[in-house]
Amino acid sequence: MMAVLFLAGCQALNPEPDTSLYQQLGEREGIANIVEDLLYLIVEDERINHQFKGMDVAQFHRNLTDQLCELSGGPCTYTGREMRELHADMAITNTQFNALVENLILAMEENDAPTGAQNRLIKRLLPLYPDIRNL
Ligand code: HEM
Repeated sequence: MMAVLFLAGCQALNPEPDTSLYQQLGEREGIANIVEDLLYLIVEDERINHQFKGMDVAQFHRNLTDQLCELSGGPCTYTGREMRELHADMAITNTQFNALVENLILAMEENDAPTGAQNRLIKRLLPLYPDIRNL
């Protein structure tokens, strides 16, 4: 009993970061595969592909992978530009935002990410909504 209390106390003082979502998404390699498939889906999606014309694909892939890795609790640091600044001149509509999220879910599905993990990642992305839409 004392040992359990001691362990519980240690955990409260020195909490381990929760990396379970990161693991469920297949760590950085799994997330990189999801982002790659997301890119293919974006290119085919008439609702949003015009917005991405001329962008640096390798940089987008690296930065979005880092961002999703960090958000899911993984050992990555997003070093790209701030969300509001990045999306400032795009006039992104609700439909376009939803289209991107829909494609991300499809990409996770294609990579066999569990439904619970998909929902948890989307939940962590939602606070970015006002910055991305510049509201
Ligand atoms: C959950 C929603 C979204 C997230 C998490 C997100 C995240 C990101 C990130 C991390 C980057 C930086 C990549 C880089 O450095 O090149 C980026 C860039 C970009 N995003 Fe988003 N984004 C979202 C929604 C959207 C939507 C809905 C659109 C348009 C329909 C969009 C269009 C773009 C474009 C065109 C760039 C490249 C900008 C540039 O290179 O100057 N994003 N986004």
